[in-house]
Amino acid sequence: MNLPNGEPVLRVVPMPADVNQHGDIFGGWIMAQVDITGGVMAARCARGRVATVAVNSFTFKQPVLVGDVVSFYARIGRVGRTSMTIDVEVYAQRNPRELETVKVTEASLTYVAVDADRRPRPIPAE
Ligand SMILES: CC(C)(COP(=O)(O)OP(=O)(O)OC[C@H]1O[C@@H](n2cnc3c(N)ncnc32)[C@H](O)[C@@H]1OP(=O)(O)O)[C@@H](O)C(=O)NCCC(=O)NCCS
Repeated sequence: MNLPNGEPVLRVVPMPADVNQHGDIFGGWIMAQVDITGGVMAARCARGRVATVAVNSFTFKQPVLVGDVVSFYARIGRVGRTSMTIDVEVYAQRNPRELETVKVTEASLTYVAVDADRRPRPIPAE
């Protein structure tokens, strides 16, 4: 397995309520967790409130199954004046007797640092 890129942000176990009609985890559940993951990293980079402005890419490489332990990793990509791109990778661990880890999803999202009136604000320098 390739090692995850980025920092661990979330680790979640999806529940039966999160499945689609075929019994696998609903893509929308994964998208929500990915947005939360990217938002945590973006808020840290922007030192405050951010808003998701775009989902640049999103690839579901493997299905996520009920009972998987799903880990979300985030890495800061491009940083602009008020916006930043966050790359997220998702790995599922399953089969505890013979532990298997699979990369299930990768995504790139853009967040904008916003002020209390939800207007774009500059990202503070390091
Ligand atoms: C985020 C938001 C405040 C940006 O406002 P805006 O008037 O488009 O802002 P600007 O045109 O000044 O652009 C701000 C930054 O976002 C970037 N941006 C805007 N639209 C973008 C897009 N579709 N993709 C990537 N970046 C984008 C701009 O390039 C700019 O980046 P920079 O300052 O680093 O160069 C506004 O679009 C908004 O409130 N959107 C809804 C956010 C939201 O509610 N998200 C949750 C989902 S419901």
